Amino acid sequence: MHRNGETMTFPLRIDRVAISRVQEIDFATVPFGATFSDHMLSVEFEEGRWSDGLIRPYGPIPLPPSISALQYGISVFEGMKAHKSPAGRPLLFRPRENARRLQRSAARLAMPAVPESLFLDGLRELVRLDQAWIPPAEMGALYIRPILFSVDPSIRVKPADRYQFVIFTSPFGAYFSAPVDVLVSERYVRAFPGGTGDTKPAGNYAAALVADQEAREAGFNSVMWLDAQERRYVEECGVMNVFFLLGEDVVTPSLSGTILPGITRDSVITLLRDLGYRVKEDRISMDELLKSYERGELRECFGTGTAATVSHVRRIRYKDRTLELPPIEHRKVGAAVREKLLAVMTGREPDTHGWVESI
Ligand SMILES: Cc1ncc(COP(=O)(O)O)c(C=O)c1O
Repeated sequence: MHRNGETMTFPLRIDRVAISRVQEIDFATVPFGATFSDHMLSVEFEEGRWSDGLIRPYGPIPLPPSISALQYGISVFEGMKAHKSPAGRPLLFRPRENARRLQRSAARLAMPAVPESLFLDGLRELVRLDQAWIPPAEMGALYIRPILFSVDPSIRVKPADRYQFVIFTSPFGAYFSAPVDVLVSERYVRAFPGGTGDTKPAGNYAAALVADQEAREAGFNSVMWLDAQERRYVEECGVMNVFFLLGEDVVTPSLSGTILPGITRDSVITLLRDLGYRVKEDRISMDELLKSYERGELRECFGTGTAATVSHVRRIRYKDRTLELPPIEHRKVGAAVREKLLAVMTGREPDTHGWVESI
């Protein structure tokens, strides 16, 4: 089968909904992550091979309670977005990177790889079918959630034999992401050398919840994570990669094996360099940040990730110190790169890096 001049290597069957629910949705008010589009893709892996793909109405998946995804967290996921171009065409942003990261996450949990062509063909077909669920350009995006999990009905602790790969999507309306206050966690770590921090197993997120809860109870929006060994070096900010403007240089923690290689992070580094900024990937200690702060050189901090794109950090709490960063209106670098990235993602500006795919 050929679509867009590409060969579809995986047979895909489509079972459409009788009536779309999209007319009931107000994109201006739809809350993030709680409303799901009409269809989902579902593919099974059994006896060493992938089944044909099925796109069917979004809904429950009947499974026995013994499946090992539920017992041991044999489950990995991705997060990405589709936008609508000014002319109303669906646009994907660097989807191949998500397909590859899902493969790396799967390999880390001894799971089979979802072939790139299966991921991409299934994704394109699903987004094409549910394109009415992508909010209009400038109003929001369609969040896309691929998941791969074990459906082995066995409570033995072992790599599973049967898996399910699912993609479902969820519209969300607001581009605006409020500035965040973050608490540096001294007690918990997100990742450690040899662990799973550079991949996306479900368990990473479960293990971070208590730190997030404590931060929220203390009046912060999110946690800033330090390295596990020395508890000195900044790693990430909640579920975002983190950038600092120190003097004239933009600095972000180098990918050490404990940091998720964010696709937004990579894109932001490239766009910042395009915009003429010097960007360094390096270790950044809290001591160094405190010194820069005292010298008035810590001018900006922002997080990057699919959901928020670029989110300014307003204050950082570390031990008994609160670092009050300059007012958001003065944030030139984070604001410029956010605007640039959104312009490329939504097709308002030319894509000179080959990142955007129109479907
Ligand atoms: C822990 C963590 N860091 C960073 C990111 C940002 O990654 P991306 O830009 O690919 O969304 C995510 C989101 O996937 C994440 O879960």
